[in-house]
Amino acid sequence: MKKEFSISLGLQQLPEGPVYLVSSEFEGKKNIMSVSMFAYMSGKLVSVGIAPSRFSFGLIRNSHEYVINVVDQSLIRAVKICGENSGRDVDKFSLTKLTPMKGVKVNAPTIQESPVSLECTVVKEVDIGGHVWFIAEVQAAQAREGYDWRSGLLLKWIGEKRFYFKLGKKVGKF
Ligand SMILES: Cc1cc2nc3c(=O)[nH]c(=O)nc-3n(C[C@H](O)[C@H](O)[C@H](O)COP(=O)(O)O)c2cc1C
Repeated sequence: MKKEFSISLGLQQLPEGPVYLVSSEFEGKKNIMSVSMFAYMSGKLVSVGIAPSRFSFGLIRNSHEYVINVVDQSLIRAVKICGENSGRDVDKFSLTKLTPMKGVKVNAPTIQESPVSLECTVVKEVDIGGHVWFIAEVQAAQAREGYDWRSGLLLKWIGEKRFYFKLGKKVGKF
């Protein structure tokens, strides 16, 4: 037997998925923001949902590029800084002491300290109200030698509290 539950509580039971550091650049201004609204679309297409109020929004809309940087445990502090400060007010590369690296295929910087970076060019914007989803094609991927994907982080929201989790143990296969 199940009983009716509030929709907001129901939604809180869904794992929100990984959190990433998304880097971008336009007219010489480099920035990083924390992003958990990520969706893998299909083929080489991925998507991030960005609120128009974010400084990164203008950089991505104008440059048509962004880099998705995978976050491991060593970058938790950077996620907090990049998710609580705006590039309008601070230089987040200096604040986090992260190192911008030239991309292989895009002008947007990759983050040297991130284990995996995906360079993306925007192919479509979908405005769902509140957030615009920037659907993009991955042009290049770079990974640190010896990177173990199990060290990637998952972000799970429980009620008003927020926790970070690492990926758990393998429980099945397909
Ligand atoms: C864990 C975490 C996840 C976040 N995910 C998103 C997201 O998916 N989309 C979004 O627009 N803002 C998200 N934010 C908020 C932005 O990162 C935050 O507003 C940031 O200061 C924007 O930076 P900017 O103004 O320099 O672009 C998130 C914040 C945190 C801490």
